[in-house]
Amino acid sequence: MLVGLGGNNGSTSVGSMIANREQMSWRNREGTHKANYFGSFTQSSTIHIGWDGKEQVYVPFNEVIPMLRPHELIIDGWDINNANLYEAMCRAKVFEPELIDQLKPYMEHIVPKPSIYYPDFIASNQGDRANNVIPGTNKQEHLELIRKDIREFKKTNDLDCVIVLWTANTERYTDVRSGLNSTADEILRSIEKNVDEISPSNIFAVASILEGAHYINGSPQNTLVPGIVELAGQHKVFIGGDDFKSGQTKLKSALVDFLVSSGLKPESIVSYNHLGNNDGKNLSEARQFRSKEISKSNVVDDMVASNKILYPDGKKPDHCVVIKYVPFVGDSKRAMDEYVCSIFMGGRQTFVIHNTCEDSLLATPLIYDLTILTELATRISYSVNGSEWQQFHEVLSLLSLLLKAPVVPPGTPVSNAFMRQYGSITKLVTACAGIASDTELQLEFFTKLS
Ligand SMILES: NC(=O)c1ccc[n+]([C@@H]2O[C@H](COP(=O)([O-])OP(=O)(O)OC[C@H]3O[C@@H](n4cnc5c(N)ncnc54)[C@H](O)[C@@H]3O)[C@@H](O)[C@H]2O)c1
Repeated sequence: MLVGLGGNNGSTSVGSMIANREQMSWRNREGTHKANYFGSFTQSSTIHIGWDGKEQVYVPFNEVIPMLRPHELIIDGWDINNANLYEAMCRAKVFEPELIDQLKPYMEHIVPKPSIYYPDFIASNQGDRANNVIPGTNKQEHLELIRKDIREFKKTNDLDCVIVLWTANTERYTDVRSGLNSTADEILRSIEKNVDEISPSNIFAVASILEGAHYINGSPQNTLVPGIVELAGQHKVFIGGDDFKSGQTKLKSALVDFLVSSGLKPESIVSYNHLGNNDGKNLSEARQFRSKEISKSNVVDDMVASNKILYPDGKKPDHCVVIKYVPFVGDSKRAMDEYVCSIFMGGRQTFVIHNTCEDSLLATPLIYDLTILTELATRISYSVNGSEWQQFHEVLSLLSLLLKAPVVPPGTPVSNAFMRQYGSITKLVTACAGIASDTELQLEFFTKLS
């Protein structure tokens, strides 16, 4: 269930899933395109599992152990705007007209459920969108209504597993303090007492957990406060976040990993963005931009900390992030990055990268991946030396590869480096299949054993 179903990501997620399921194709001026899942790690990547004596063996990630395909998901959700998904998809300007025409009969009858709108949390420029709002101001009543939606969705569709994923507007940060949300009891009591500082995403997360549905935060705000983490543990429900790692930050987490692993020292990283979709409009207000700035800013920390030769005093590179709203470019986001490194013998190396891409075509595959991996995690349990079988920690750090600012179990290190995250998840899947995970050693090629 998507919170923000009528947004660019929400409508693109539903439309792309249907286009794949129905094997649609469409023309644009460059030729004919077929629906695919490019950019989805679970659907379009392969894992190297070894050398068979003649060639390297690669297996599709989703064939190593049983996992869901995106078109097996049933998607529904909420939006504060009442546009049906055909109208939402036209508004998003992500798909080509021929594809929109084919999708119309599937999309026009899907209307998002009314949602919770507390104007203080998203930008004031979103006010004119809020025409599909659950009435009243009583947060406890709102919680009960969202719980009912989740229950009914599960029952009507006869589902084993429900995952609620926030892809609605970026909210401002909430306060985190004792008495408000630092324990499970406190957050439940704060909702009951209608405390102003409880955000819509807090209500959705609590509703999901109380209904046994897993909750993922695809936006940067700090929904997963300590009280919500504790509640998830009590109800044995997974939570994951924050913020889809889709474009600029994904490249940064791979590029800085590569630079530092090569022994080069990034000294300055400056990232400019401009975009013209509704996400950009919302982020043009200071408090919402601040949430995004925070989630984008810590991505190089673990790579800096990994190398005391380059960074003996732990001083991080200068790192600056700018986002501007330019309506004309729509969903086609521009990201411009400059990386300056210190290299051998006092030299300087400067990389300048310009990336243009439809933002929602990068984020949507991650929505499928986050969902598919969360469902997969519900079917994995482990036992240590014959102890009772248990599930992973409720904070599902397994999802880190797909998230800009991974939330991890208290006391465990955050990993942002792309290849470490990739290794962690591919090795987990191969281990579950009983395949040895040390194949990258390639010993057979530099010894006389082969
Ligand atoms: N590449 C990407 O697109 C990308 C990457 C990382 C994070 N994100 C985050 O994903 C989110 C969605 O992006 P988008 O481009 O789809 O934005 P969007 O503005 O097109 O869609 C958001 C939708 O949420 C709805 N909404 C707002 N508050 C709501 C509430 N309380 N309940 C239900 N619906 C609500 C809005 O009406 C809108 O339809 C943003 O927070 C964005 O920062 C996007």
